[in-house]
Amino acid sequence: MEIIILDTEEELARLAADAIVRRVQRSPDLVLGLATGSTPLPLYRDLAQRHAAGVNFSSVRGFALDEYVGLPPEHTQSYAHYIAENVTGPLGLRPELVHLPDGNADDLEEAARRYEHAIRASGGVDVQILGIGANGHIGFNEPGSSLLSRTRIKTLTSKTRHDNARFFTSLDDVPSHCLTQGLGTILDARTAFLFAFGGHKAEAVARAVEGPVSASCPASVLQLHQHAVFFVDRAAAAQLRRSDYYQETWAAKPAWQLL
Ligand code: F6R
Repeated sequence: MEIIILDTEEELARLAADAIVRRVQRSPDLVLGLATGSTPLPLYRDLAQRHAAGVNFSSVRGFALDEYVGLPPEHTQSYAHYIAENVTGPLGLRPELVHLPDGNADDLEEAARRYEHAIRASGGVDVQILGIGANGHIGFNEPGSSLLSRTRIKTLTSKTRHDNARFFTSLDDVPSHCLTQGLGTILDARTAFLFAFGGHKAEAVARAVEGPVSASCPASVLQLHQHAVFFVDRAAAAQLRRSDYYQETWAAKPAWQLL
């Protein structure tokens, strides 16, 4: 694992965008795993600026991490809507190359199986973008999720529903179920970029990076990943016991060793 601690979200987003653009220039049909929520927005904004400046993302393929069950795609809080507004349009991706789990399928288990199949058929995710819940979830793999889980239906915890209620008219409007890539699905990505900003994420980051690998903190499964990079601001890094070491490592990183 590599832990990068910098002052601002924008600096962290720029570093990650540099790494993604470098990969896209090498492999124009790169497969991105797309998180939603507040945290990846600085990265998506940075990538959108690069698109405006001429970087061509039109062959890039995308797979969203998750989708609520029962929200129509045109609902402003559906992740289909989020991805269209913040990723597909601003980055100039082709809509037919961007996929989400079908949270409106009659047979949700079959939809989950189809999604896994589509990810595998694409050759797998190259760079998985992740946020982290205050309870340590990634995707909607809530605490207790199997560390080897695949895309499936999950019940959101009341903590997650409360956290996300800010986007809805009322708590009652927040769906109780979702389809989410599993932790095993996420582990299959070649590279995982996790972002965390703000003191309310500090405990989750510390448990993910320095706690035991445990279903109680789903993000801790990234300790088993071959190439996971955490991009954290100082507030989110506040509870890391080895933050001096991570910062020394970053300062001494050889120029040839790219993210
Ligand atoms: C979203 C997702 C979630 C969020 C997490 C943090 O696709 O999978 O794991 O990344 O809930 O949300 P924010 O970034 O809104 O704090």
